[in-house]
Amino acid sequence: MIIAVDGPTASGKGTIAKRLAQHLGIAYLDTGLLYRAVGRQVAISEGDPDNPADALAACGFPDELLQDDNLRTEATGGLASRVSVHPEVRQALFERQRAFAEQPGGAVLDGRDIGTVIAPDADVKLFITASVQARARRRWLEMVEKGIGTEDEIPLIEIEKDVVQRDARDINRKDAPLKAAPDAMIIDTTEFDREAAFEMVVEAVHEALNKA
Ligand code: DC
Repeated sequence: MIIAVDGPTASGKGTIAKRLAQHLGIAYLDTGLLYRAVGRQVAISEGDPDNPADALAACGFPDELLQDDNLRTEATGGLASRVSVHPEVRQALFERQRAFAEQPGGAVLDGRDIGTVIAPDADVKLFITASVQARARRRWLEMVEKGIGTEDEIPLIEIEKDVVQRDARDINRKDAPLKAAPDAMIIDTTEFDREAAFEMVVEAVHEALNKA
């Protein structure tokens, strides 16, 4: 069984996908982490994330890098978004994601192109989204909670700008842009908290699996 969970930045898709995998007792892969590792490796090698050759070279990052706390930062997220526009990078990461998806027992993968490119054959496809304002606010709260800065030190408007910029890059890239697969269930969590959003997803997944 393959479950594809796609959606824009800060939509909560990662939390939902991880919990869903635990709930179903199957494996989970955060594919954004692979692109983040490539972005971080480019920075470590002092390469240019907008240069396809530098970005491709960074796809050979060591596996230990996936454990690096720096992968979760906003700065690395921005680098990941930049390296992810190169078709060479997407191709280099394809097999790894596909092999994970095909493992016996099944898997949940979250990302931008799981339902469209990595696993168009997924049994269930979810597209988790929320308004720009809701996503920016959630990211801002998360940063304040993590102690990255106080409410006054982190301007919400800057986070909102970053979300808009990240969306534009992910949606407008030529290769595997962020978009819902035609057969994906669209789940808008703007008006829902984490718990309610997860309940909605579980219900939708059970319904889809029962139909199959
Ligand atoms: O989900 P995330 O914020 O960790 O992803 C970081 C960047 O990686 C995102 O802006 C675009 C890229 N990405 C991608 O292009 N395809 C995926 N399947 C996952 C992430």
